Order: sequence, then C-alpha cells, then structure tokens
Amino acid sequence: MRHKVSPSILSADFGNLQREIEMINRSEADWLHFDIMDGVFVPNISFGFPVLKVARKLSTKPLDVHLMIVHPEKFIPHLKETGIYMLSVHYETCRHLHRTVQQIKEAGMKASVTLNPHTPVSLLDDILQDLDMVLLMTVNPGFGGQDFIDHSLTKVSRLKEMIERKNIQTLIEVDGGVTLETGRKLLDAGADVLVSGNFIFKSSDPIHAIHQLKSL
Ligand code: DX5
Ligand code: ZN
Repeated sequence: MRHKVSPSILSADFGNLQREIEMINRSEADWLHFDIMDGVFVPNISFGFPVLKVARKLSTKPLDVHLMIVHPEKFIPHLKETGIYMLSVHYETCRHLHRTVQQIKEAGMKASVTLNPHTPVSLLDDILQDLDMVLLMTVNPGFGGQDFIDHSLTKVSRLKEMIERKNIQTLIEVDGGVTLETGRKLLDAGADVLVSGNFIFKSSDPIHAIHQLKSL
C-alpha cells in the first residue's frame, strides 16, 4: 500500500479556513487531520466541535480526528453524529482503553490509539489486534512547528515488528515535525500515514508540499 498523507489543519490560516480546506480538497492529501485540545491534557486549546462540523461540511477528504483531551469517551456519541472517519484517543487518557476502543467501533468509526513520546509501544501488545491504527507522537502533543524527536524512529520500527509478528493490518501514523527528511526516515522505519502541519501550510505552495510528501 502506498503511504497516506494527512495535513494537520492546526497550522492552517484560520482566517481563511474555507479556502484552506478547499485547497486540501484539490490536493493529493488522503485525509484531513484535525487536532482537538482541552488545555488540561495538553498545555494548549485549539478548536472544538463547532469547527469540526464546519470542516466536515467543507472537506471532501475523510476526517482523521486526534483527541488530546481527558475523558475522550464522553464525546464518542457526538463524534459519531459528525461523521468522522478515524478517531484517535490517547493511551495516557484512557483508564479503560479496551472499552473505549469498542465504543468507537460500535459508533461506526475506525479506532486508533495515540502514544506520547515517552509511552512504550510494548504497552499496546494486548490491544493491537483490535486497532485500525496507532498514532505515534513524534513531538510532545500540543503545538505545531516543533522539532522531530529522533527516538521516534526506533518506536516506529518496534511497532512495525509487533504488527508483522501478529500478522495484522494495523496502520502506523506519525505526527509532529514531519518534513521531507524526517518523512523519508519514518516511511523507511515502517510508517503508513504522515501527518504534517507546518511543512505543508507554511510552505509557499502547500499543494506541491503535499505532492512532495506523497512522492517520498
Ligand atoms: C501536535 C499536533 C500535530 C501538529 C503537527 O499536538 O498533534 O498534528 O499539528 O504539526 P507539525 O507538522 O507542524 O509538527
Ligand atoms: Zn495531531
């Protein structure tokens, strides 16, 4: 399977959100990555459900929603109504992760679990078979435009090995500091989906930047 690219709307120009989403629609992007933050789990607040609904209406790409909030399970019914494709919840926020993953699937969404940079991939050993995707944070969550953490490459390789050993189809998505250079290394290590914010939206030609990430 050719790798996917999921532009992170967090780095877009919010004064021109419609124009930015229409630009993504015209690009080779596979999904649209949408970061929801609560100011509690992460030291920043981004946007919430009203903005997500606008994105849903305007976007022709499936929505890839990354929840950086405590008690993510409370919002599963709401997200179901919005019609999103992939829902990622943080391992660090879920006391009953297995139950939450089942709830996401019962609501008709694909289920993904996100790991912070310090959380070992081995903690997923007994749930990996139930996941559509694992989102590995390659920066500390909360902000766009941070430097890539090199150790992430080892985590991607370890997770890929676990997936192959189990002979399952779980995707590996990576998020934070993805550029052409780090993107290439991440794909070599086994990543399937590249999220990218600043590299795309701060470029003078975002459609070309997406094309370059797709061509890696
Ligand atoms: C960080 C977010 C990322 C962020 C990535 O908490 O989860 O999706 O937007 O942005 P870049 O690619 O600029 O690091
Ligand atoms: Zn994200």
